[in-house]
Amino acid sequence: MYTQLEQRGMPRPPVNVSTLAKMKAEGEAIACLTAYDASFARLVDEAGTDLVLVGDSLGMVIQGHDTTVPVTVDDIIYHSRCVARGLRRAFLVADMPFMSYSDRHRALDNAVRLMQEGGAMMVKLEGGAEQIRIVEHLAQHDIPVCAHLGLRPQSVHKIGGFKVQGRDEAQARQMLEDARGLEAAGADIVLLECVPNELGEAVRETLAVPVIGIGAGPKVDGQILVLYDILGITGGRMPRFVKDFMSEAGSPLEACVAYVRAVKTREYPAPEHCFS
Ligand code: KIV
Repeated sequence: MYTQLEQRGMPRPPVNVSTLAKMKAEGEAIACLTAYDASFARLVDEAGTDLVLVGDSLGMVIQGHDTTVPVTVDDIIYHSRCVARGLRRAFLVADMPFMSYSDRHRALDNAVRLMQEGGAMMVKLEGGAEQIRIVEHLAQHDIPVCAHLGLRPQSVHKIGGFKVQGRDEAQARQMLEDARGLEAAGADIVLLECVPNELGEAVRETLAVPVIGIGAGPKVDGQILVLYDILGITGGRMPRFVKDFMSEAGSPLEACVAYVRAVKTREYPAPEHCFS
């Protein structure tokens, strides 16, 4: 990674929270992908990805589990450290895995580990209003936070499957309120997973911070997908919002470049990738 000194005067300096806020203000779509190792990190960075997430999806696509629940803080640190070595420009976010933020002290200790040992610049945690105290505590310690709303894969056993969220009015209203509360608590980004287009747009309009969607429709500030899904590597039935960019590309790099371009031009997501 570039040091702070090397960054000065670069034509396309590394992305930081201010860059992301500026992109939202100027209407430039934020292109995000997951990565889990240095080689793919180098590739997605070269493709122009703005933000790279070391997601706990690694439990499924790397470790072969059915859910993200078994992933540990040590797993995320290991992969985040690998990814950090491959990045030049993209902003690095690391997921806080299941139960690693069950109370404020645990959350702070683990977030510090993700940043100090894993090289993360921001941590992501799942949850709504119940996480406001945690987000506040992290923000008070200057830890940048991405709050993950909508479908929360760590709660899959409680929810009873990977399902679209916020379809009924009460749930949608609650999600909007949660998003406002999390922003007020200090969240720097909100990530919305698997919600109807209309709700994605309403959350984006309500918040000053960037809203990144995955299956949240076209009217959000940016998009994120799991790298192995856009490269056509992940087996089995794909969620509706996934697009395989490899099928029309000559190489993984070309596929990532096509993804970034499709996000920036807002060609992705198309109606067939969205929920109503
Ligand atoms: O873990 C992950 O990769 C994620 C993305 C799917 C947003 O949370």
